[in-house]
Amino acid sequence: MKIVSVVGARPNFMKIAPFVRAIEDANKGNGAGIDHILVHTGQHYDDSMSKAFFDALNIPEADINLGIGSGTHAEQVGHTMIAFEKVVRQEKPDWVVVVGDVNATCACSITAKKQHVRLAHIEAGLRSGDMTMPEEVNRLVTDRLSDLLFTPDRLSGDNLRREGVAADKIRFVGNIMIDTLEAQRHKAEELRVADIVGCNRMEGQGAKADFGEQDIFSLLTLHRPSNVDDPKILGEIVDFLTDELARDMPLLWTVHPRTEKQLKAFGLWDKVVAARNVVTLRPLGYHQLLRLNMGAALVLTDSGGLQEECCVLGTPCLTLRWNTERPVTLREQGGASVLVGNDVRRIREACREMLERGRVPSRPELWDGKTAPRIVEVIVEAGGI
Ligand code: UD1
Repeated sequence: MKIVSVVGARPNFMKIAPFVRAIEDANKGNGAGIDHILVHTGQHYDDSMSKAFFDALNIPEADINLGIGSGTHAEQVGHTMIAFEKVVRQEKPDWVVVVGDVNATCACSITAKKQHVRLAHIEAGLRSGDMTMPEEVNRLVTDRLSDLLFTPDRLSGDNLRREGVAADKIRFVGNIMIDTLEAQRHKAEELRVADIVGCNRMEGQGAKADFGEQDIFSLLTLHRPSNVDDPKILGEIVDFLTDELARDMPLLWTVHPRTEKQLKAFGLWDKVVAARNVVTLRPLGYHQLLRLNMGAALVLTDSGGLQEECCVLGTPCLTLRWNTERPVTLREQGGASVLVGNDVRRIREACREMLERGRVPSRPELWDGKTAPRIVEVIVEAGGI
């Protein structure tokens, strides 16, 4: 059986690593005889956004890199489809496997189906209901085209059934990102927060007070267009962070390239750099970010993956969005996250409340670190053409 699997952007790498390992194990242990080809579309290309994750998670170098790079959505999806079509024609796989919800996921799903290749989607069924999110469009298209839909939780399966997906295509297997978390957490535990901060401070941050190992801190990541593409919204968030949140404890902010670009374009960068208690960090490696998450008193984020990791680690998490495709991580479901949008009043109130609550780890069903072998077993059972 031949499988072509696809990655494109940072959150994909944590999802493909356990899948690659599970294929290797199936080939060794059960003689599954899977011929696996890994394709990187090149949507993310900076070493810190891509190669660092391949190295840290022991993902073998991609067999094929399409080198797509940045661009508008249509450019990214269009260029990826053109390049990936050649791969599918040449390799003639039995299955194309896509993960997550980035532009690479959607582009390669459409291409595979138009070449009559069977498609499997890992992390199927997530729905935010927010069609202004590019990821929601990607999720809908991908799931509509998929022959096997691997869901991370029961709510996702309910979404798919409501949309009319046949029950035998939907397989509840758990959350593959948690496979990576469980396999890697011991390495993260060995790191020291002060070292991570020391090694990753951005320019202009060196003069700020040294960060001590015992310091209590909050951790911020921000990259969604809804938060960083509007100067007023980003400006209000920056004011709150620098003038209020960071007064009480240091704020570690790992800055996405898109966000750095916008902060500079909107004239907000100098304020962030000048804030004494805000330390901006370059995009971090997997273990480094996991270690900061383990030690943070509070996480503020608009990343879905971080929301899930906070859930398992129990880190109080303010999700800076008005909706989420991952409701299983919310406090109402026993998780660690609350939705606060980008309304500063809500963020302020939730900060106080969540700090009082402290760490409450929770583990949704089948987030047990064994999702990838379950997926490979189903694909092997489904067989080749
Ligand atoms: C993409 C995904 C998003 C995911 C995020 C994680 C889509 C629609 N969005 O958003 O779901 O949560 O990745 O990071 O697929 N850039 C660099 N170096 C890089 C990559 C990007 O400097 O290696 C800069 C470029 O200026 C680029 C911008 O970041 O234009 C945005 O990159 P892009 O891949 O378009 O979207 P993300 O915001 O990263």
